[in-house]
Amino acid sequence: MQNETLTITDNRTGKTYTLPLYKGAVRAIDLRQIKTGPEDFGLLSYDPAFLNTAACQSAITYLDGERGILRYRGYPIEQLAEKCSFLEVAYLLLNGELPDPAELDAWSGEVTRHTMIHENLKKFMEGFHYNAHPMAILMTTVAALSTLYPEARNIHDPEVRRLQIIRLLGKMPTLAAYSYRHSLGLPYVYPDNDFGYTRNFLNMLWKRTEPKYSANPVLARALEVLFILHADHEQNCSTNAMRAVGSSFADPYATTAAAIAALSGPLHGGANEEVLRMLDEIGSKDRVPAYIAQIKAGHGKLMGFGHRVYKNYDPRARIIKRVADEVFEVTGRNPKLDIALELERIALEDDFFVKRKLYPNVDFYSGIIYQAVGFTPDMFTVLFAIPRTVGWLAQWQEMLQDPEQKIARPRQLYTGQPVRERVPETAATLA
Ligand code: ACO
Repeated sequence: MQNETLTITDNRTGKTYTLPLYKGAVRAIDLRQIKTGPEDFGLLSYDPAFLNTAACQSAITYLDGERGILRYRGYPIEQLAEKCSFLEVAYLLLNGELPDPAELDAWSGEVTRHTMIHENLKKFMEGFHYNAHPMAILMTTVAALSTLYPEARNIHDPEVRRLQIIRLLGKMPTLAAYSYRHSLGLPYVYPDNDFGYTRNFLNMLWKRTEPKYSANPVLARALEVLFILHADHEQNCSTNAMRAVGSSFADPYATTAAAIAALSGPLHGGANEEVLRMLDEIGSKDRVPAYIAQIKAGHGKLMGFGHRVYKNYDPRARIIKRVADEVFEVTGRNPKLDIALELERIALEDDFFVKRKLYPNVDFYSGIIYQAVGFTPDMFTVLFAIPRTVGWLAQWQEMLQDPEQKIARPRQLYTGQPVRERVPETAATLA
């Protein structure tokens, strides 16, 4: 049996402390006993951006960034992407096990029943400017759902929680599709519950005057795979926002809106949109070396490259490259792919990127597929938010059920002025 402890000597006092280790980690609160004297608050750990801090225990997603491994509830992402539907994966993430056929049927039925949105919300959406970013519309309308379901704030009731989870999963594609059609000035299309999750989404996006929309099965399956790949990714920036906001016991709509806000940033989910802009800016394969030289000189970042956790090839990017081939068989090859492949080839051979372990992440190729399918770049992050909602909700639920969790409230190292007096008084205060 290993000795699961850590011995620390405080060189300020010469005292030695032995701290227990828990699952290979030291509990930061155990450091507090290390003091220079009775007036001392105790030792804090300082970790801006959480580079080395586990903020929770989680049984949902396993990620080994050094070896490029991603598993949901123990299942390798490659197997789930090949063999499952998105709603099966959603059930798995939320419940811990894959559904049997009867459970899947009941689950799909429940989610499908909640795809409609209140007509009031439609009117609310009409108020947005024609060129409002779809991600901003999505974030706002998800927050507005809490005005329609006030019971949602009863987050400690498991049945109430379950209903809001189903509502959110059901309504996300509808809100996303409406935000898209709004930007084009097209009438909204109501959900058609004859279709499964992704086909229904495509129906609400692309249906024109035909009586029944028929999605291309290859494109519908490609979207399903992309949804599976984006469903969860342990403690990323938006999931951390979900857990932090949810820890104050805000309702799940307000909490999910906060996660959407975090996802929208260009360093996180917003990167897929930025990749396309970058490829447009590069313009052609022969201009790739000059662009890379510019990045190495410190002018900007190679969007879609690098990851806090993956220091190896992102396994999702590998699957996405395969999906891209299938999509291009239907849509024709997106010429941006050649620029992206050249960027990847040069970057992966370049010492600057090799030394920093910078590989393509999930966002590098996803936008090229989305564009080939017919989406404009401002929809790309919305396409990320729909499936990630299930991961956020699974993590939110786990956080609420974890007896160790409390309101998220970090400490700080104060660097401001020491106490000082406001003297002399000014003429204004004397008047
Ligand atoms: N292009 C060029 N250099 C990069 C890139 C990049 N894409 N990413 C990191 N670096 C460099 C940094 O400048 C830093 O260099 P230095 O050591 O000389 O200072 C080094 O690599 C380490 O990078 P950090 O910024 O410390 O890495 P961090 O873990 O904080 O950031 C992040 C991760 C935000 C993803 C970063 O790699 C990045 O900005 N990538 C581009 C945006 C992107 O694609 N985001 C999507 C991520 S996946 C997702 O959220 C779904």
